[in-house]
Amino acid sequence: MSDRRPIGVFDSGIGGLTVLSALCCRLPAERFVYLGDTARLPYGTKSAETVTRYALRAGRFLADERIKLLVVACNTASAAALPALERELSVPVIGVVEPGARVAVARSTGAIGLIGTESTVASGAYQRAIQALGGSSPVRARACPLFVPLAEEGWFDHPVTRMVASIYLAELRGVVDTVILGCTHYPLLKPAIAEALGEGVHLVDSAVAVAEEVAVRLRASGTAAEGGDGEVRLLVTDAPARIARIAALILGDDTPPLQLVDLPA
Ligand code: DGL
Repeated sequence: MSDRRPIGVFDSGIGGLTVLSALCCRLPAERFVYLGDTARLPYGTKSAETVTRYALRAGRFLADERIKLLVVACNTASAAALPALERELSVPVIGVVEPGARVAVARSTGAIGLIGTESTVASGAYQRAIQALGGSSPVRARACPLFVPLAEEGWFDHPVTRMVASIYLAELRGVVDTVILGCTHYPLLKPAIAEALGEGVHLVDSAVAVAEEVAVRLRASGTAAEGGDGEVRLLVTDAPARIARIAALILGDDTPPLQLVDLPA
């Protein structure tokens, strides 16, 4: 039996589109509804309580869209609000922290670097996930708060981005062999991040691992869409015209129109 209900995906802004892109590749028959909470971006500089409040609003909104599963395509919200979302919603909820930690533990032979928002780094969520997976590598964490506005500006490979990356990442260069891109905006800045870290450092983007986990969960629960065409709806809570320009840089020519929505408090 084919379950045609959509999969909900949310982030504070465009970062989660990196996860959506991997989901569309892995699950082409599925329907997706993506919510970018651009009215409240950035999440990463806010307290865990505030992020949890925002994440619950976004989750409830998507639940009203009759989704069959929720992907929290935001590390900050995954780190702060996953248990609250799981308690509140009646559908399975998949975050991005555990899948990313799993890839890092499997790949690393030395120290693991973690870069993310201030909130994600302060939460210790990755460090706990790595320990729970039996990883014994030391973790060197560095918050990179300017990366989110640079990505939202579309400055993916801009001289300013390269300069900021070289300042933030100097302390990790030569010290770690694997770096977790612990914010879904950061894969957009990969060339600048890779250059700043130097050769031979493996960058972990959890998007593919998350897409695989969603595929496994849908199969196990018999809720996959079988056959038929996939579909993507893009919703934002502010500035759809501005976000559309950046979304097209990530999703390409097939980017659907962006719809403005309001989240009830
Ligand atoms: N993309 C989000 C993350 O993965 C958050 C960015 C932000 O709003 O600060 O953490």
